[in-house]
Amino acid sequence: MNKRDLVSIKDWTEKEIEHLLYTAEKIKGYQKTNVEFHPLAGKTLGMMFAKSSTRTRISFEVGMYQLGGYALYLDTKRNLQTGRGETIEDTARVMSGYLDGIMIRTFSHDDVLKLAEYSTIPVINGLTDLLHPCQVLTDIFTFYEERGNVKGATVTYVGDGNNMAHSWLYGAARTGMNLNIASPKGYEVNKEIFEDAKKIAGNNNCTLKLFTDPVEAVKDVDLVYTDVWASMGQEEEHDARVKIFKPYQVNRELIDHADKDVLVMHCLPAHRGEEITDDVIDDAKHSVAFQEAENRLHLQKGILYLLMK
Ligand code: CP
Ligand code: NVA
Repeated sequence: MNKRDLVSIKDWTEKEIEHLLYTAEKIKGYQKTNVEFHPLAGKTLGMMFAKSSTRTRISFEVGMYQLGGYALYLDTKRNLQTGRGETIEDTARVMSGYLDGIMIRTFSHDDVLKLAEYSTIPVINGLTDLLHPCQVLTDIFTFYEERGNVKGATVTYVGDGNNMAHSWLYGAARTGMNLNIASPKGYEVNKEIFEDAKKIAGNNNCTLKLFTDPVEAVKDVDLVYTDVWASMGQEEEHDARVKIFKPYQVNRELIDHADKDVLVMHCLPAHRGEEITDDVIDDAKHSVAFQEAENRLHLQKGILYLLMK
């Protein structure tokens, strides 16, 4: 039997992503109207974590429970033998004998690729230093929920060229959204990922553009997105980055350059007063950050259902 993974949005076709969005919408509807839906009864998801998490951990664990299955929290540093040197390859083979799926959050993207290669069960990327596909699929779902259509809309990502920016490149390219990314010099996105995503965008009638000026990048756009300036694992760089990224703060003045009905998103956790101001993230007219956070649950239930049913 062929198993399917979600390691990068790039690996899913536009049709598959559309199907995921409809599935998540249906599953969210079941929950909101108290319709029982337990297609994963008897199935278990192993959740491997090498980094902290609030949303990813809770939404995957609760999602499995709501779908009738069970989720195991596995700390890769402190409890699993991976923390004492057992290889990813051996761990993948062993876990494939017990579980029906694995969700992993870790540092090295190569470790996730290796885990997917050696597992005979689906592997879901719950964030690496390179990509965060579940978050961007949720963001696109949230935009679709708000606006009914994503194709042709323009998104601006303001800030660090990190895992969120990279997944946005693939997410926008695959779904036909135009994407602007505004980052300071030296903190741009990975060039190979940018070129790779541009090829996909070129076949999908959408554009991916890089900027250094955030004001120019947000002009008349439909969605402004930001993320922390120092990601997990970069804590020591925080103070230096705060100075460099200051002109990239998503504040009222910046938002005023976007479309008058612009949506504002943040993957959270937010460093309020740094990459985003309180008045913007709490602005009920524009910000959908908390709807977006809730949607992690519904979108990921869609992923779990499609991969593990
Ligand atoms: N957005 C996100 O992935 O949140 P957590 O780090 O809390 O899981
Ligand atoms: N770029 C952030 C995203 C957190 C969800 C990080 O990797 O810490």
